[in-house]
Amino acid sequence: PGAGLADRHGRVATDLRVSLTDRCNLRCTYCMPAEGLDWLPNPSLLTDAEVVRLIDLAVHRLGVTEVRFTGGEPLLRRGLVDIVRAVAALPGRPRTMLTTNGIGLARLAAPLAAAGLDRVNVSLDTTDPARFRELTRRDRHADVVAGLTAAAEAGLLPVKMNAVLLRGLNDDEPVELLRFALERGYELRFIEQMPLDAGHTWRREEMVTGAEILARLRAAFVLHPDPQARGGAPAETWVVDGYTAVGGGPARVGVIASVSSPFCGACDRTRLTADGAVRSCLFAQEETDLRGALRAGATDEEIADLWRKAMWAKPAGHGIDDPRFLQPARPMSAIGG
Ligand code: GTP
Ligand code: 5AD
Ligand code: SF4
Repeated sequence: PGAGLADRHGRVATDLRVSLTDRCNLRCTYCMPAEGLDWLPNPSLLTDAEVVRLIDLAVHRLGVTEVRFTGGEPLLRRGLVDIVRAVAALPGRPRTMLTTNGIGLARLAAPLAAAGLDRVNVSLDTTDPARFRELTRRDRHADVVAGLTAAAEAGLLPVKMNAVLLRGLNDDEPVELLRFALERGYELRFIEQMPLDAGHTWRREEMVTGAEILARLRAAFVLHPDPQARGGAPAETWVVDGYTAVGGGPARVGVIASVSSPFCGACDRTRLTADGAVRSCLFAQEETDLRGALRAGATDEEIADLWRKAMWAKPAGHGIDDPRFLQPARPMSAIGG
């Protein structure tokens, strides 16, 4: 391992995703059971100061340039605005982003933007409030829509929206979802469902594929290839004819086909869980605890070295199609999306 977060397959991680809590105020049926999960106990969570210290050393010693806050639901983290302010002000100015279910964003979008947050991605799987209640077991559709509006008003641009389509539940909605996003100037991305749910109910045969979604969209919209380079981004994007994004510029739609068309070869991500473990991949079987070293008084360079070693062992790909594939022990909500 060299100075940055390189792995044995030639990739270098520069995009850090930090889970700030494993808790959530929704109960999306494809993510967690109605009663929730066994949440991490408070003493095992990194404190705000510990989170900022780890991000600081990732930026200064490990070459991280982008920091995305995830959850569970990151807006539930009390210190979020202060964490964002501290990270955005680090010398080197990492780009800061947030992936959220949007509940509470109506109130927090402006303070987060003032603290230096660059962008948000908001998850919304349906345009129908009744269906939202069925999918998430909570009657909060209006809060999410208000959160999206507030994000655009606060200048957190481009506002991106994430949607997972589920067979028999909302797979009839791609065109309506895209219309909803285009009318408001948001960039919608459809995500293929991955085997990361707490209930282990994922079935490859039932998964709504990117190809299927694209075919449905092409029947209603004219999509042009996107001239913008994709880089390490998980979404393949298209420019939608006849629409404009909020803040100007062409409207885009994306498909994140992580399962049927893996982007693992170009992956530039490293992850930190809310309890202070490095995960080299969403699907990695191993984690490297940093919290123990941190609390035992390790130096920045010692922690950086543990992080480098963890990333060196990053698997080549998720291996979902391998018959020996095993779902990681932590569900998506405890890893961060
Ligand atoms: P931007 O395009 O920069 O906004 O970021 P993003 O798309 O990475 O962010 P977001 O958190 O919205 O991620 C969207 C979805 O991409 C996630 O919910 C996952 O489904 C998928 N995804 C993100 N990171 C990974 C990854 O490392 N591996 C795989 N297989 N999927 C990922
Ligand atoms: N597969 C794909 N995406 C998922 N998400 C949650 N669980 C899964 C899964 N099993 C999405 C959420 C949110 C993002 C953080 O991850 O809908 O958009
Ligand atoms: Fe919460 Fe996200 Fe899981 Fe839905 S998918 S229950 S919003 S963590």
